[in-house]
Amino acid sequence: MPGVTDRVIIVTGAGGGLGREYARLLAAEGALVVVNDLGGARDGTGSGTAMADTVVAEIRAAGGTAVANYDSVATEEGAQSLVATAVNEFGTVHGVVNNAGILRDTSFAKMTPDVWEIVLRVHLFGAYHVTHAAWPHFREQGFGRVVMATSTSGLFGNFGQANYGAAKLGLVGLMNTLAIEGRKYDIKVNAVAPMAATRMTSDIAPAEMLEHLPPEHVAPIVGHLMSEECTDSGSILIVGGGSVQRVQLFANKPVQFPEVPSIDEVRDNWSRITDMSDAQPGVNPAG
Ligand code: NAI
Repeated sequence: MPGVTDRVIIVTGAGGGLGREYARLLAAEGALVVVNDLGGARDGTGSGTAMADTVVAEIRAAGGTAVANYDSVATEEGAQSLVATAVNEFGTVHGVVNNAGILRDTSFAKMTPDVWEIVLRVHLFGAYHVTHAAWPHFREQGFGRVVMATSTSGLFGNFGQANYGAAKLGLVGLMNTLAIEGRKYDIKVNAVAPMAATRMTSDIAPAEMLEHLPPEHVAPIVGHLMSEECTDSGSILIVGGGSVQRVQLFANKPVQFPEVPSIDEVRDNWSRITDMSDAQPGVNPAG
């Protein structure tokens, strides 16, 4: 039963919340896990070793194999050092769960370049750096599994999360291309939009809702997406509290204008242009 047995899997931001659950389940299923965590606060300030160390100790106490890493995913050097930890300890890397994340919520009117950038640096640049450092190993061994942590805030929008939503849907764009580029190397890249009670959501969602969203519910889906048996690539799953749901972009049948239309002709055809009743899963017309 291959699953994730003996697979070397990096889980970023695994010192708490969802990442901790992913790391614990993967290790319980026989994966060799690199528990990465910068060990800072929810807003990305500070750092420390205790969070990653605690999860490694938990995994080892349960009979699993894990090693800690404290690098920030937000820099190229940090990501390279993280992948080097996997290679030095376990010989290679087979999978990356890009889970590390921070929040700097503010309305768009109050957004500053600093707050915009730091959120993109951790989520989007972080996933780019770590996946890029792991990619040569995936290609060489003809096997790789990547999960992106996206969010309903990116997929559908959420007040006060312009930076976070942009980063999270950026990860879907990254996934779409990596799914294509990874095809001939058995590299599968998927995205999970979790819903879970963690420090990230503690004051965002109502307590009555959070009590039905224990983070351990999300881990088996990530476990499947990291496994040898996973055949999907480019899928997005919303997962939480026992429910699993696929999300996909759809496109309707195009309205054709034989001549360049006037603005009035566009307006007159607007209901046809926007009618989604015959929509099908979207594909890249240039692809
Ligand atoms: P969390 O705050 O408990 O976990 C995030 C972890 O990432 C923390 O342990 C933190 O120390 C670590 N981290 C932050 N910056 C880092 C960096 N530069 N390098 C390495 N580690 C870093 O939050 P949670 O809820 O477990 O979130 C996990 C992921 O799931 C995040 O990407 C989040 O955006 C996403 N997510 C969570 C949702 C939820 O309902 N909890 C909803 C949608 C998305």
